[in-house]
Amino acid sequence: MHLRFHRAFATLSSELQTALAPIMDADDFSASLSAAHIERLKQQTQLDADALAFALLPLAAACAITPLSHFDVGAVARGKSGRWYFGANMEFTGATMQQTVHAEQSAITHAWLCGETALEAITVNYSPCGHCRQFMNELNSGTDLQIFLPGRDPATLKDYLPYAFGPRDLDIKTLLLDPIDHGYHMQGDRLEQAAIAAANHSHAPYSQAHSGVALETESGAIYAGRYAENAAFNPSLPPLQAALILMNMHSEDIMQIKRAVLAEHPRATLEQHQATQATLNALGCQNLRVVALGDR
Ligand code: THU
Ligand code: ZN
Repeated sequence: MHLRFHRAFATLSSELQTALAPIMDADDFSASLSAAHIERLKQQTQLDADALAFALLPLAAACAITPLSHFDVGAVARGKSGRWYFGANMEFTGATMQQTVHAEQSAITHAWLCGETALEAITVNYSPCGHCRQFMNELNSGTDLQIFLPGRDPATLKDYLPYAFGPRDLDIKTLLLDPIDHGYHMQGDRLEQAAIAAANHSHAPYSQAHSGVALETESGAIYAGRYAENAAFNPSLPPLQAALILMNMHSEDIMQIKRAVLAEHPRATLEQHQATQATLNALGCQNLRVVALGDR
């Protein structure tokens, strides 16, 4: 098990520790649990799904990177497929505050990048801020998404975001997590192709400025992230942040990025280049290449 989980793991019930140890000790554990894992955990701990999601929150929060606030937020998103995804907040010293990733965004993006096409519920250890409520309203589950908070009755996004403004107000039909392929042609090496593939699945119905980022780590792994726009424009999640979420969920050190590729259209109405470069610089990576999304 990765070192960062040790302290949180020790606080779990002994039944949950016994059930989780073989899963988290696997080399390929990437902060998500399959439907079969969940069934086994429920059986071995006698917890129902909602109680199990609460019990897992300390592990999700252990993935937080909080050099500024030291306030670790954890989230567990439950996918339609039955798989559960951890999420945690990420703060970047030397960047702007706007670059921060919230735990809810992390869990949702984690699920999206793993191919999840709808979410049923999200469990968080603190009340979701206004920005996260708005971010969640972009999902194809709409205001029906269930939200679980410690000490509160189960509720839906409808309860947390009354009189919501969302994609439907702008007549947008393709929602976040709906499968989409913008069809840009592949070109270049493996990292460039990963960035283009990410751009192909990005959610940019408001600007059509599709984009994706692929990161190669010192260990040789590749993590790709897609841009996710919001009906309110803010809070949209930049493609670099999405890639960093996946890297963090795989227990990789975000200061160990060897090279990065951003795929975006050269004449798009918005551009990610400057912001991506600035945040990468704060993470000690100077090696960013931009590939132009071309024909489709
Ligand atoms: N935070 C979340 O992750 N989710 C919320 O909705 C509330 C706030 C994080 C952001 C920042 O890293 C820290 O908590 C302090 O605001
Ligand atoms: Zn938030």
